[in-house]
Amino acid sequence: MIKLQVKIILWIFIILPRFSGSRQIENINSNSMKLFAFEDFLYYHNLKHALVVLTLEEEHKIEGIQHLLANYYVQFYNLKKPMKFDELFYYNSPRTGVLIFNYDNDYAKRYIYKIASEMGYFNNTQAWFMMGSGGATNEQTIMEILSGYNINIDADITVALETADNNFTYQLYDVYQINAPLIIEFKGSWSPIKGYQLLNHFKNTWVVRRRDFYNFTLRASTALIEKPKGLDDMSYLANDKELLQFDPMQRKTYQLFKLIQSMYNLSLDIGFTDNWGQMLNNGSWTGVMGQITSHQADFALCPMRFVLDRQSSVQFTPILHTQFIHFLFRHPRRNIVRNIFFEPLSTLVWWSVLALITFSTLLLVLHVRQEHRVLTVGGEHHHRVERHFAFVWFTMMDTYLQQGPDPEMFRLFSTRMLISASSIFGFMLMQFYGAFIVGSLLSDSPRSIVNLQALYDSNLDIGMENISYNFVLFTNTSNQLVRDVYSKRICRNREHNILSIDQGAERLKQGGFAFHAAIDRMYRLLIELLEEHEFCELQEIMFNPPYVASSVLAKSSPWREHLAHAILHLQATGLMQYNDKLWTVPKPDCSLFKAAQVEVDLEHFAPALFALALVMLASGTVFLLELLLKYDQFALDKKIQLLSVNLLLN
Ligand SMILES: *[C@@H]1O[C@H](CO)[C@@H](O)[C@H](O)[C@H]1NC(C)=O
Ligand SMILES: *[C@@H]1O[C@H](CO)[C@@H](O)[C@H](O)[C@H]1NC(C)=O
Ligand SMILES: *[C@@H]1O[C@H](CO)[C@@H](O)[C@H](O)[C@H]1NC(C)=O
Ligand SMILES: *[C@@H]1O[C@H](CO)[C@@H](O)[C@H](O)[C@H]1NC(C)=O
Ligand SMILES: *[C@@H]1O[C@H](CO)[C@@H](O)[C@H](O)[C@H]1NC(C)=O
Ligand SMILES: *[C@@H]1O[C@H](CO)[C@@H](O)[C@H](O)[C@H]1NC(C)=O
Ligand SMILES: *[C@@H]1O[C@H](CO)[C@@H](O)[C@H](O)[C@H]1NC(C)=O
Repeated sequence: MIKLQVKIILWIFIILPRFSGSRQIENINSNSMKLFAFEDFLYYHNLKHALVVLTLEEEHKIEGIQHLLANYYVQFYNLKKPMKFDELFYYNSPRTGVLIFNYDNDYAKRYIYKIASEMGYFNNTQAWFMMGSGGATNEQTIMEILSGYNINIDADITVALETADNNFTYQLYDVYQINAPLIIEFKGSWSPIKGYQLLNHFKNTWVVRRRDFYNFTLRASTALIEKPKGLDDMSYLANDKELLQFDPMQRKTYQLFKLIQSMYNLSLDIGFTDNWGQMLNNGSWTGVMGQITSHQADFALCPMRFVLDRQSSVQFTPILHTQFIHFLFRHPRRNIVRNIFFEPLSTLVWWSVLALITFSTLLLVLHVRQEHRVLTVGGEHHHRVERHFAFVWFTMMDTYLQQGPDPEMFRLFSTRMLISASSIFGFMLMQFYGAFIVGSLLSDSPRSIVNLQALYDSNLDIGMENISYNFVLFTNTSNQLVRDVYSKRICRNREHNILSIDQGAERLKQGGFAFHAAIDRMYRLLIELLEEHEFCELQEIMFNPPYVASSVLAKSSPWREHLAHAILHLQATGLMQYNDKLWTVPKPDCSLFKAAQVEVDLEHFAPALFALALVMLASGTVFLLELLLKYDQFALDKKIQLLSVNLLLN
């Protein structure tokens, strides 16, 4: 509303008198008009801070300018009392609009452009508004005046040139540079009546507008820690089909940068190093970090972990890669000591069952002795109740294994009670045993080692990859359990437990070993080493959040907005996730193996076969002995019977 009023007043008092032909008024009006254009510029760019550059002769205008730009924080840069240009912008100052009345003045060229160029102020911190009078060849004039300065892709320079017919209309040009020559684009116009009028294209942000780099070459740096022999760096980096056992991280992100390359029409000059970057004692860096900080490279092509001490030397882009680093081990399927036939009952219960059977057998011995006595005394000779221990043993077996002795065999109520109770007990035990075996075979055996505490308590050996972040993770933590895992389990046998990832994979294959390493790489190695069913036994234990990594750039690099935009764009469109998916190991479908677990494999059945074979062997041996010794059971029995009858009768 206020703006509209100002314009109406302007029209009445400034534009109209122009036609009266007064030279003096026209001069003042021209300057006011420039300020109005500048004010619109500030308004359009959402700026609150302004810097107005004045020559010596223009000193008297200060008051008028302050008056007109009363809504803004205005500073003046005056050559009379020289101060350093950069002192006007304190550290991290807000974006400032800079007004230059006559952009082709010598003083502007000599003092402003030169200093701004040297200090790197033609960047996004300042929004330059340069005014001048135009002609037929505006682009060419701008090119002549502004060429040769250090203007970056993120420069925000608007050149406003008055049209020739003096009606206060300005043609606006957008100026930036990727590589010489300058890029000058017509942007729109400003006039007192219509205000700031931009072409539609210029309503986008500058990152979207300036996305053709005209095949400019950016220098990238990447670390290749390991690579196969006989393959040069570049063909290894570009290889996305084979050699998957090598660390895929750099090659994976290279695929993303290939997309970015075509997105911005740029080409890459890739430098290779052999490490990520260590800080030396004198404060300089090696590896990728060194190439970035020394400006040998513009950005890192490989993902760099967010580490605190890197933060002060470089700046990070949005996340490019997520690395999962966990414990991995083959979960023991069943307790190794016991076999499947003993599985249903715990050791204590088995002992109790054994004790019960023994006790009832001994009890039966007494009962049988009594039965025998009763029968003999009653005069009724009963052959079937015999007094041998062997007889008692087989009777008890019959009872417990649900065969049942002849009901006529025992007469005493107490004996019948014992046999009945034992039968019922045997029945219940068999039902339970059978049902449990079937049930346990059908169900997926539950995994018990699923957290760090369980791992710590288990009898698995624990190890980790010999890599710097693992040491930091286990030692620089306030979690006592994590520290214990390191000091009491991993360091119990340091040389044997801190291994390279290949050695770790070999030990994982043998089982009984948990290894802390990058999961993705580990799976890659294991998929070659393990059988499918072994692969399905793998269990992860995660106790730390995944590591995220991103590309890095030098501080206040002009490319950082473009890189951030590109990475976020890849994320938002799902291309990054798709790329991640292409590079993860396809895992076998483990649900297929659950069916296979239903049958008892030889490994678990072997004890039964072994025991049977052993007993057959023993019985064969005894049989041979009996043959050799001409052992006559019947004669012996007769003797024993006679002996015992004599004993009883006497
Ligand atoms: C612009 O350049 C100055 C000086 O080099 C620097 O301090 C500032 O951080 C840069 N600003 C941006 C947005 O890059
Ligand atoms: C000023 O002149 C230009 C042509 O030079 C014309 O396009 C524009 O409409 C004129 N503006 C006004 C306000 O008359
Ligand atoms: C990419 O840059 C080259 C070299 O400047 C140019 O010829 C080509 O037209 C550009 N491609 C696109 C798609 O803009
Ligand atoms: C882009 O530049 C690279 C190297 O600078 C060159 O090999 C390639 O041919 C150029 N492409 C175009 C389209 O000019
Ligand atoms: C730091 O030391 C390394 C070698 O130790 C050397 O190459 C580098 O130039 C030194 N950097 C500085 C800034 O002194
Ligand atoms: C971890 O290391 C950093 C710096 O190396 C140190 O400031 C911090 O106190 C350490 N934290 C613990 C829990 O040891
Ligand atoms: C870990 O690797 C470093 C070099 O990479 C080596 O000096 C060190 O002996 C290794 N440690 C173990 C326990 O293998």
